[in-house]
Amino acid sequence: MKKACLVLLMIAAFLLFASARAQVSSAAEELIPSNTAKTSAEGTLPLSETQKILVAYFSRTGHSREIADQIHKSVGGDVFEIQVVEPYPEDYEAVKKRAMQEQTSGYKPALKTRINNIGSYDLVFLGYPIWWGTIPAPIRTFLSEYDFSGKTIVPFCTHQGSGLGRSVADISRLCPRSALLDGIAIWGRDAITAQDKISDWVRDIKVAK
Ligand SMILES: Cc1cc2nc3c(=O)[nH]c(=O)nc-3n(C[C@H](O)[C@H](O)[C@H](O)COP(=O)(O)O)c2cc1C
Repeated sequence: MKKACLVLLMIAAFLLFASARAQVSSAAEELIPSNTAKTSAEGTLPLSETQKILVAYFSRTGHSREIADQIHKSVGGDVFEIQVVEPYPEDYEAVKKRAMQEQTSGYKPALKTRINNIGSYDLVFLGYPIWWGTIPAPIRTFLSEYDFSGKTIVPFCTHQGSGLGRSVADISRLCPRSALLDGIAIWGRDAITAQDKISDWVRDIKVAK
C-alpha cells in the first residue's frame, strides 16, 4: 500500500514538472513574434520610397537654395523655387526695411510662380532664410495659397544666429492640419559644406535610408 502511494506521488510530481515546463516554453514562444516584428519594423521603407516629395524654397542670396539642392540630392522628388513678383532689393538696409514692414503688417507679397499639382505631394520640405526671427513674407504667401491639410511639412532654414527662431511655430499656425517633422537650421556661411549634415538629418527623420 505504502509502495502504491509512493508511485502515485512520483507520477503527480512528474506531471506537475512537465506542465510547468510547457508553460515556460509557451511563454518563450510568445516572445518570438514580437522580436520578428521589431526586425521587420527596422526594415520599414524610408518615407522617400512611399511618399511623393516636393522641395519648395525661397532664397534671396542663395544659401537656402544651396540647402534645397542638397536635400534634393539626398531624397529626390521635385524642386520648386518660390519667387516674388516684385524682387527684394540687393541693398541690405533696403531689404531689411521692406522685410520689417511686411512682417509688422502681415503683408503677403504676390508670387511669380505657381504649382499646379500640389495635391499630389505628401511630404513638403519647406526652405527659407530666417528674417526677423521667423519665416519671410513670401513663405507666408506660399502657405496661404495652397491647402497643406494632411501633408507633412519639413522645415529647413539658413540664418545668421537665430536658428529656426519662431518659424516652426508660425508654420504650424498657418497650417494647423499638417504634420511637422523636425526641421534643420544651417548657418548661411556653412550652407555650401552642409551636405553631410543634411544626409544625416534626412536619415534621422526617416525620409532616407
Ligand atoms: C531682412 C533680413 C532679416 C534677417 N533676419 C535674421 C534674423 O532675424 N536672424 C538671423 O539669424 N538671420 C537673419 N538674417 C540673415 C539671413 O537669414 C541669412 O543671411 C540667410 O542665410 C540668407 O539666406 P538666403 O541666401 O537663402 O537668402 C536676415 C537677413 C535679412 C536680409
